[in-house]
Amino acid sequence: MIKLSPSLLAADFSNLKNDIEKAECAGCDMLHLDVMDGAFVPNISFGMPVISSLKKISNIVFDVHLMINDPIRYIEDFVKCGADIITFHYESCDDPLAVIEKIKSFGVKAAISIKPKTDASVLEPFIDKVDMVLVMTVEPGFGGQKLIPETLDKVAKIAETAKEKGVCPDIQVDGGITLENAHLAVEKGANVLVAGSAVFGASDISEAVRKFKSL
Ligand code: DX5
Ligand code: ZN
Repeated sequence: MIKLSPSLLAADFSNLKNDIEKAECAGCDMLHLDVMDGAFVPNISFGMPVISSLKKISNIVFDVHLMINDPIRYIEDFVKCGADIITFHYESCDDPLAVIEKIKSFGVKAAISIKPKTDASVLEPFIDKVDMVLVMTVEPGFGGQKLIPETLDKVAKIAETAKEKGVCPDIQVDGGITLENAHLAVEKGANVLVAGSAVFGASDISEAVRKFKSL
């Protein structure tokens, strides 16, 4: 079963409540919240105050994607503001295992991500310790980019390594995912799709969610 996690980055920031309700009612499985610090990525998005405010008006699973340096400093804060899943980047810290353990110590799901140029093999030591792996299919930092097709081979590699290790983490793809290309990621083994522009940028959000869910 494919899960859909629409990225709020493409939503109407003057009316987030309305957009989230539409996505939730149409059946999306979680909400993807992109946190950017202007250092790990060349862009700044939003942080804890926005997430904790949204948590009060929504029951959906909060899938928080941290694109920040040294994420261990802020794990507790993101747990407190309502994250249900916390994804951090392999490239953003010296000790990924410590970050995974910190996230899990709060009873929150832990996920690790790699940028397009990072080899999938770096994740081998962590695959049996996380709930989800996120393969970035664009350079992180901005919504509305085109999917880099070569990144999808890493999805297959990660699915294979997980199988060898006898584990079954969710495999998420993020960046440039559309109704037209989503099947390519799914065929390689992805089961969680992030889509910003293709959901919140669509003229009819509910219809876009329903179409993704029926893929
Ligand atoms: C990019 C973010 C993505 C982005 C996806 O750095 O991690 O979640 O918002 O947006 P689209 O689907 O428009 O590429
Ligand atoms: Zn993201």
